[in-house]
Amino acid sequence: MNLDLFAPDDIPLLDVPLGPRAVVLRGLALPYVEALLPDLDRIFTAAPPRHMVTPGGFRMSVALTNCGALGWTTDRRGYRYSDTDPQTGQCWPALPDTFLSLARSAADAAGFSDFQPDACLINRYVPGAGVSLHQDKNERNFDAPIVSVSMGIPAVFLFGGLQRSDRAQRVLLQHGDVAVWGGPDRLRYHAVSPLKDATHPLFGAARINLTFRQAG
Ligand code: SIN
Ligand code: FE2
Repeated sequence: MNLDLFAPDDIPLLDVPLGPRAVVLRGLALPYVEALLPDLDRIFTAAPPRHMVTPGGFRMSVALTNCGALGWTTDRRGYRYSDTDPQTGQCWPALPDTFLSLARSAADAAGFSDFQPDACLINRYVPGAGVSLHQDKNERNFDAPIVSVSMGIPAVFLFGGLQRSDRAQRVLLQHGDVAVWGGPDRLRYHAVSPLKDATHPLFGAARINLTFRQAG
């Protein structure tokens, strides 16, 4: 049973260790959200979230875009990082300082000093959307952690092991939570269950996830 599902809104939830170097930092992003919203709007205008296709021909249920020097993309030819948006041919929007300071303080709080993300994948979920079990492994080296910020409506995050078949932990990610995984946990499989119907005062019926990575 996931006790988090029954925690009243006004009681701060405890951080959740997911592994030796993996943790959910509850509410760490809350003080940063208001300041980053105008930047998020600008990014969505310049590089609107879109549904990409996997190499297997599956249309992803999340809509995604990127900011930073490199952006993660997928199409029939494969998954890769690209310095331009395939839809416009332009560079991805720059990684705003508001995003960077959030990413760095989350990495610091999880014990990863000197995090220098050059890529921020932005996933937009609506109810029913999810992400199937995968590893983040298109980055050039795995020394740097993954920093993953949740905003908007909640989602159940599945955090598995190093083998696809390993049993996954389930943890509810709410507005302002930040998951960080690195070191021996860097290549653990993870997924997001299809979201339930909900609305959030700032984001409406949507969840925005920012995934910061050192990709290049
Ligand atoms: C992902 O791993 O690609 C998404 C993680 C999330 O949305 O929380
Ligand atoms: Fe991922």
